Amino acid sequence: MTLADGPSLRSPRTLAVARSFGRRARHYAEHAHLQRHAARALADFVLEQGGLPGTGLVAEIGCGTGLLTELLHQPGRPYLATDLSPEMLEQCRQRLGRRGDLSFAVLDGQQACFAIPPAAIVSNLTCQWFADPVAGLAGLARLTPCLAFSVPLSGSFPEWEAAFAELGRTSGLLPLPEEGEVLAALEALRPARLVHRVEARRQHFPNALAFADSFRLIGADQPRPGYSPSAIRPVLRRFADGLDTTARILYCMIMREGL
Ligand SMILES: C[S@@+](CC[C@H](N)C(=O)[O-])C[C@H]1O[C@@H](n2cnc3c(N)ncnc32)[C@H](O)[C@@H]1O
Repeated sequence: MTLADGPSLRSPRTLAVARSFGRRARHYAEHAHLQRHAARALADFVLEQGGLPGTGLVAEIGCGTGLLTELLHQPGRPYLATDLSPEMLEQCRQRLGRRGDLSFAVLDGQQACFAIPPAAIVSNLTCQWFADPVAGLAGLARLTPCLAFSVPLSGSFPEWEAAFAELGRTSGLLPLPEEGEVLAALEALRPARLVHRVEARRQHFPNALAFADSFRLIGADQPRPGYSPSAIRPVLRRFADGLDTTARILYCMIMREGL
């Protein structure tokens, strides 16, 4: 075993996140449009930066059904696909398990700990689910000479947030990490190289329900901690004729020496 996971240390929140994704695992790939786009964009970004360094293990945090896995796994190079949700991992295993050099493990990325540092850690649109995404990303960067990831940023979906703010409320969407805070935490590790880009990904939804479904149907609908649901009829009315909204996505690669 190359890694240690601590299921007994999982918080109720982490268990709820795992259950939400698990419930939707079988149909996740049909609805994961933003995730499929970001997986491709992250893989392209990694390639533009010269690819994943070294020849040793690549470990993926939050592989889901394997949208990034299938793009980054290369025959002959060991690749460990991990996810908090056993059901998501099982979908990944069913789709990609016949490939050689690919192994699977249930793992809470917040507790990742490898006996031998992986040559690279990769992750697509997952670390926003950590209790502290900024500290979690910096923690992953400490475990490897190369961390390549994407994460949605604060400032995403502003039209939705504004509709709730006008009602004097905050939406149930996850609070997302600030770009500056993520980059500052990674800079503090004194990397040999830190490269990033931010994409503003515009999406159209026919109405508010379709927007909410884009989270619900992939299991990404655990509301932010402390959210108490109440009627959202004014929000539904406001977007009855459609909602154009933007996800801000950070693609980043950090290279460190001396591990
Ligand atoms: C939005 S999905 C992205 C999945 C995949 N990376 C993709 O691009 O399709 C988020 C994934 O993160 C997993 N996840 C959530 N919290 C996690 C954690 N603390 N550690 C590892 N995986 C986690 C979920 O189970 C889910 O599979």
